[in-house]
Amino acid sequence: MDDLGLSDWLVKQCKHLGINKPTPVQENCVPAILEGRDCLGCAKTGSGKTAAFVLPVLQKLSEDPYGIFCLVLTPTRELAYQIAEQFRVLGKPLGLRDCIIVGGMDMVSQAVELSNQPHIVVATPGRLADHIRSSNTFNMAKIKFLILDEADRLLEQGCTDFTKDLEVILGILPAKRQTLLFSATLTDTLQELKMTYKSKLKTKFWMFNSFTQTCKFCQNSDSGGILTMMLQKFYFPTISLHSMMKQKQRFANLAKFKASVYKILIATDVAARGLDIPTVQVVINHNTPGLPKIYIHRVGRTARAGRNGVSITLVTQYDIHLVHAIEEQTNTKLKDYPVKEKDVLKILTQVNVTRRECEIRLESTDFDEKKEINKRKQLILEGKDPDLEAKRKAELEKIRSQKKKFKQKIRESVQRQNHGQLKKKAMKKRQIKRKKEADLLMPQSSLAPAV
Ligand SMILES: Nc1ncnc2c1ncn2[C@@H]1O[C@H](COP(=O)(O)OP(=O)(O)OP(=O)(O)O)[C@@H](O)[C@H]1O
Ligand SMILES: [Mg+2]
Repeated sequence: MDDLGLSDWLVKQCKHLGINKPTPVQENCVPAILEGRDCLGCAKTGSGKTAAFVLPVLQKLSEDPYGIFCLVLTPTRELAYQIAEQFRVLGKPLGLRDCIIVGGMDMVSQAVELSNQPHIVVATPGRLADHIRSSNTFNMAKIKFLILDEADRLLEQGCTDFTKDLEVILGILPAKRQTLLFSATLTDTLQELKMTYKSKLKTKFWMFNSFTQTCKFCQNSDSGGILTMMLQKFYFPTISLHSMMKQKQRFANLAKFKASVYKILIATDVAARGLDIPTVQVVINHNTPGLPKIYIHRVGRTARAGRNGVSITLVTQYDIHLVHAIEEQTNTKLKDYPVKEKDVLKILTQVNVTRRECEIRLESTDFDEKKEINKRKQLILEGKDPDLEAKRKAELEKIRSQKKKFKQKIRESVQRQNHGQLKKKAMKKRQIKRKKEADLLMPQSSLAPAV
């Protein structure tokens, strides 16, 4: 650590934490950031990217301390707390003042904290943009560093689009600043950005593609909720983390998992990135991730900082192409994990029954209500009016149900017609039969008077 150009107090602080030798991303990024350059750091999960930006920022802050000195943006709330903690631990001798601005927490107290000019602000884009839109009690016109951790997630237009919030935030930042981008996955967005930066700013970039606690990832909150209930029913020490939970609950659950009170964490992709829990030994993907990038981040929750770890992915016959895409991107052939069918069949009925029980229990909770609230939030973020959308949806539903009724009517009338025709045919047959019988009887009756 002595050769990175860091002050003695910071090197000492690193050693206190057991950071004795820099990782490649730190070796390459720290001196460059200290020189005042912009930086794009792409290195594998668990390779110490956080310290790669925290250390030089702290050094620069110690030379010229003021607030607000540095803004870190990150996609999830948990990650914001983790980054702030690294700043706090490494910057303890400085008497560092930090401030965390994330959703799900009280906005008024956050506004007060912001107005107190903390040295470092760590934020999720949505809530910070809300503060900028609603108040002018703080000033970010002098920040020296803008850091985007998990930059590709922040810049791409995925399920949560941060673009509009980023525009609002960038609007109040000075043009003269250092911008540092970090991620484990270099996506097209970052590639583009890299090309733009290369041509416009002639900046140098560094990339490193060289790249038993269990964390289980599920596709959505519903499947996560059911899985958690099922495992708890089978007495596995399980806890969950997903976006339908209140923020306080999310923090509490994460803390319990970190403290090994619970050995299994069932999480959606809200926990896929950045979270550093060194004791995680196994990551199980309950569904095959749709994108190789998501796979890389999820499995990166194990084998942190040179430790060992295992990741297991459940694959159906419809996911083979996804596995191939992962293998291609990671340059690794995934190994088949042999399972004895006999053993699976032994517990299958019991598991299915428990699953159904849990589904019924989940249906009777207010889970759907929370889902509805989240949907409304998403619509507002997309600039849509949830009530108007609901009206539109109801109208669509009405049209659909009218169509359905109409179709049903047609079907019934066709059926009736068919039925009528069949009836007519049957009547005709009966009439013919009766006529035939009558014809057969006629000669007998005509002979009668002669006898
Ligand atoms: N030089 C180092 N030597 C040993 N351990 C380190 C070093 N630098 C950081 N660490 C430790 O490595 C762990 C992972 O670091 P960090 O969370 O910064 O990884 P990351 O690269 O950001 O991963 P991700 O892509 O998942 O966000 C942390 O516990 C951190 O304390
Ligand atoms: Mg990270």
